[in-house]
Amino acid sequence: MNPSEAKQRIENLSNELHLHNYRYYVLAEPSISDFEFDQLLKELEYLENQFPEFKSPESPTQKVGGQTIDGFVTEKHKRAMLSLGNTYNEDELKEFDERVRSSTGLDEIEYVCELKIDGLAISVFFENGELVKAVTRGDGVQGDIVTENVKTIRNLPKKLKGDFPAYFEVRGEIFMHRKGFERLNEQRIQAGEPTYANPRNVASGSLKIKDSSEVAKRPLDIFLYQLYEDQTTFSTHSESLDAAFSWGLPVPGTSKTCKGIDQVIDFLHEWDNKRHDLSFDTDGVVIKVNSKRLQEELGFTAKTPRWAIAYKFQTETASTLLLGITYQVGRTGAITPVAELQPVQLLGTTVKRASLHNANEMARLDVRVGDTVFVEKGGEIIPKIVGIDFSLRPEGLPTETYITHCPECSTELVRNDGEAQHYCPNEEECPPQVVGKLEHFIGRKAMDIQSVGSELCETLYQNNLVRKPSDFYRLTMEHLLQLERMGEKSARNIVEGIENSKKQPFERVLFGMGIRYVGETVAKKLAQAFVNIENLVSASVEELIAVDEIGQRIAETVHAHFRVEKHLEEVQKLKEAGLTFEAVIAEKKGHSLEGKSFVISGVFEKHSRDELKDMVESHGGKMASGVTSKTNYLIAGSGIGPSKLEKAEKLGVPLISEDDLMEMIGDR
Ligand code: IVH
Repeated sequence: MNPSEAKQRIENLSNELHLHNYRYYVLAEPSISDFEFDQLLKELEYLENQFPEFKSPESPTQKVGGQTIDGFVTEKHKRAMLSLGNTYNEDELKEFDERVRSSTGLDEIEYVCELKIDGLAISVFFENGELVKAVTRGDGVQGDIVTENVKTIRNLPKKLKGDFPAYFEVRGEIFMHRKGFERLNEQRIQAGEPTYANPRNVASGSLKIKDSSEVAKRPLDIFLYQLYEDQTTFSTHSESLDAAFSWGLPVPGTSKTCKGIDQVIDFLHEWDNKRHDLSFDTDGVVIKVNSKRLQEELGFTAKTPRWAIAYKFQTETASTLLLGITYQVGRTGAITPVAELQPVQLLGTTVKRASLHNANEMARLDVRVGDTVFVEKGGEIIPKIVGIDFSLRPEGLPTETYITHCPECSTELVRNDGEAQHYCPNEEECPPQVVGKLEHFIGRKAMDIQSVGSELCETLYQNNLVRKPSDFYRLTMEHLLQLERMGEKSARNIVEGIENSKKQPFERVLFGMGIRYVGETVAKKLAQAFVNIENLVSASVEELIAVDEIGQRIAETVHAHFRVEKHLEEVQKLKEAGLTFEAVIAEKKGHSLEGKSFVISGVFEKHSRDELKDMVESHGGKMASGVTSKTNYLIAGSGIGPSKLEKAEKLGVPLISEDDLMEMIGDR
C-alpha cells in the first residue's frame, strides 16, 4: 500500500470507527458485532504503526479506555481543563497582581476582565469551520463526548464564517438565562416533574441526556472565553477573542481590557452593581493576563494557571440551624426533601425552609439535623443550602438516612435507574398524589374549573366524593349540599362550572389527565398529531416519537400510561361524561406559506398574536420562537422585543407587518 492509499484508508477507518463508537455508546444501537469492530480497529492500528505520520490524536485507537458514563464516550483532553484560583477580596487580587509583576519584571500588566458565569465548562473543536466535537470538563483530565447535545445549543454556530484557522479548540461555559430557567421549571411543575435547583444543574443534567432532541428543548446558551490553536497566531488573549467573535462565535461583549490592577478593580465595582440587570447569573469576574507571551512565561501550577484568577462576588449568606427534614410528595409522586430551618433573614425576607432537592444532594452535603447550615440567596428566588459549618457540628450527630417509605401513605418508594428523584408508586391511593391530580385537572391551563379550586378538591377528597377526575362529573347538588358551609348558590355555581368544562378542547383534557411529562405543549402536539383519543391510545412508541418534539422518554411514558387498565377505564368514564376527546384540526386554507418559517413579536392592532399564528399555520407556514438563520420573516408589531429585532437585522431577516402577512396569504 502506498502512503496516499494508506492515508485514505486510515481516514475511512477512523470515520467508520467513530461512527460505530457513536452508535454503540451514545445511541446504544450498534450495527456491527464486537468482533467486526475489533477487526476494523486492528486494521487501523496496523496501518497507523506502518504510517505513523497519518496517526491523528483523535484516532479511535487513541481513545482512553473508551469507558462510558451514562452511555457517553470518555476522552482525554488535549490540554487539561484546569480550574482557577479564587479570591474574595481586593487585597488578594492585589497580591496576585504583585506576583505577576514580580515574576515578569514589569511595572504594569495589561489584563482582560471577563464575567464569570456559573455554568458548565465545555471544550469545542472546529475543523475547517465545522463543529466536529464537544467534550465536557469531566474531571479536568478527561471528559465525555457530547457533540450531538452541544450542537443543539442555538447560539453556537455549527459552521463558521470569515478567516478561521483550519483546526482549533475553543472553551466556554454552557448556561441558561434566568428567564429560560424559570420557564423550564414552570413547565416541569405543569408536567408534574420536580423542579431544578439552579440553571447550572439543568445545564449539566441536559448534556447527559442521551436523546439530543430532548436536549434541544432546553433553553441552553453558551459563552466562549478561551481559544486554543496548535500554532498560536495571536499575541494577545483579547485579539483571539475578537477574532473568534468575527468567525461568528458567541464571545460575550462584556469583557474589557484593563491597564493595571486599579482599572481591574474599577471593573469589579462596576459589575458588582450591574450584574443584577443581566439576564443570567454571574458569580464573579475572571482576570487574565492579556499577553500570550507573558501567559507562557508565567505558566501553571499543578491545578491552576498563574496568569489568571477568579474574583468572586459576595452573595448574601446566613447561617442557621437545621431543625428537621421533611418530605413532600408531589402530584406525580416525586419526593422532595425539605430543610426546616430556624427562621433567618436573608436579602430582606425571612427564610424558614429550603429545598434539599433529592437524596444525592443530601448525601453530597452530608447534611444532618442539628447542623448549622449556610443558606444562600443569590439572584434566584429559592434559597439554597450551600454548605455546613462543620466546626459547629455537635459530636455524635447521626447521619441522615433517606426515607424508604412514603410519609403520606407508607408505600415503599422507588427510584428508577439514572434518576435522582425517589417516587411513591401508589398513584391511586396516596392522598397528596390523588388530590394533586385533582387540582391539576381543574387548573387554569387544564379544565379551568374556577368554581372548584384547590381547597374544595381537598374537601371533596376527604368526604369521599371525588377520587379521580371523572368523579367531578357525577357530583350532584345533593352531594355538595352535604358539605359543611356549602350554600345553595355556591353548589349551583360548582355544578355549572363543572358542566361548562365539558366544552374544553381535547388538548386541555389531555393535559388535565396529568400524565407524567405531558405538559401543555406536549399535550397540544399529541392532540394535533393523533386527532382523537382512540388513535392516541393505540399509538406505538415509534408512532409517538415520530411526532415533532416528542422524544423517547415521553413516548414511552405515554405509551405505558395507556397500557394500564385503570387509566383506560378513566378515559372511558370521562368520555361518557361528555368531555371532548377529539381535536378540531385547523383547516388548511392554503399553501402559500409552505416551507416558510415565521417568528412573531410585539403587539398588533387588527389581530391577536394567536390569530396571526393560526393564519400562518393554516397556510402551511411554521411558527418558531426565536430568530435564527432559518427564519424567513419576523412579523413585527409595536413594542417588538429588542433582542429579536437586533438578531433579525444582523441576520438580514425581513420584518413584515400584519398587513403584509394578510397580503401574502391573499386576504386583502
Ligand atoms: S478561564 C485556564 N474564563 O470557571 C483557564 N473560566 O474556576 C481556565 N469560567 O472551569 C478557565 N467563566 O468553567 C475562564 N471567562 C471565563 C470563565 C471561566 C467561567 C469557569 C470555567 C472554569 C471555572 C474556573
